[in-house]
Amino acid sequence: MNAALAKRLGAIQYDAQGRLRHLLTLEGLQRDTVDALFTLADSLVEVGGRSIKSVPLLRGKTVVLLFFEASTRTRTTFEIAAKRLSADVVTLDVPASSTSKGESLLDTIANLEAMQTDAFVVRHADSGAAQLIASHVAPQVAVVNAGDGCHAHPTQALLDLYTIRQHRGGFEGLKVAIVGDVLHSRVARSQLAGLRLLGVDDIRLVGPPTLVPPRLASLGGRVCHDPREGLDGVDVVMMLRLQRERMTGGFVPSDREYFALYGLTEAALAAARPDALVMHPGPINRGVEIASAVADGKRSLILPQVTNGIAIRMAVLAQTLGRGSGGDE
Ligand code: CP
Repeated sequence: MNAALAKRLGAIQYDAQGRLRHLLTLEGLQRDTVDALFTLADSLVEVGGRSIKSVPLLRGKTVVLLFFEASTRTRTTFEIAAKRLSADVVTLDVPASSTSKGESLLDTIANLEAMQTDAFVVRHADSGAAQLIASHVAPQVAVVNAGDGCHAHPTQALLDLYTIRQHRGGFEGLKVAIVGDVLHSRVARSQLAGLRLLGVDDIRLVGPPTLVPPRLASLGGRVCHDPREGLDGVDVVMMLRLQRERMTGGFVPSDREYFALYGLTEAALAAARPDALVMHPGPINRGVEIASAVADGKRSLILPQVTNGIAIRMAVLAQTLGRGSGGDE
């Protein structure tokens, strides 16, 4: 990413005092911001182990969840995160909303903002939707991108990185393979931006030429079409789902052939380090990109990733709503 674009993305996401106002993409963020979110998540993660799982950090704040695309993990963990911070949470039932009568995205936002909403968490099929909303809301309103088209899924990447940090202690010298449908993956784009921000240089983008075309090297990873070369000696294997909902045409001959070539089996994983971490943002498709023995195996962090999503999303909501770990301002 060029410096001018990074500066522009930074300017949109920080307020005049340099505090995180919106989280739209990891591009343009400062390393200090990610470190601060991780530190805050460290202090919030234990809330989930309490008998009463809540702290009053966002009491009186209203968070609206707007999911224009399907979600299990992101939507639920954002809702849990906001509730654990004592915010009032409203999840718009999008199919039953007046968007079905033709109300535009921005008119929908304007009306919800008129209800004194403090933060919007948005998932949308169109790349740039969260940024569009951020450019129209009042200065005190925060927007968090919960996944926009093929563009970005910043909280997914943050929770992935947080999980790596938890299990590896840091990022120095890390070798990472991102395997599968990189072409259509907003998760991969955010993982790449995050890994590079944290100083990881050895990132391999692994998959068939249809899903990992050579031009994707411009995202900042090394393109590998040979899975054995791609997984050779890596510390972390980050698997991706085939994003069929974003495909226009045939990108793989069949699920069976794709699994035979690029599926993560115990045999394929033997090329990685013996203690390699296996990650997947979910939802997983067993027998398509990952074997059940690996998804459910001892190296799999798939479910711990989900659990960490709550603490990371608590940290993001706390920061973007302008409070941090110190309680009410
Ligand atoms: N990882 C992820 O975004 O999952 P959901 O689509 O279920 O939210």
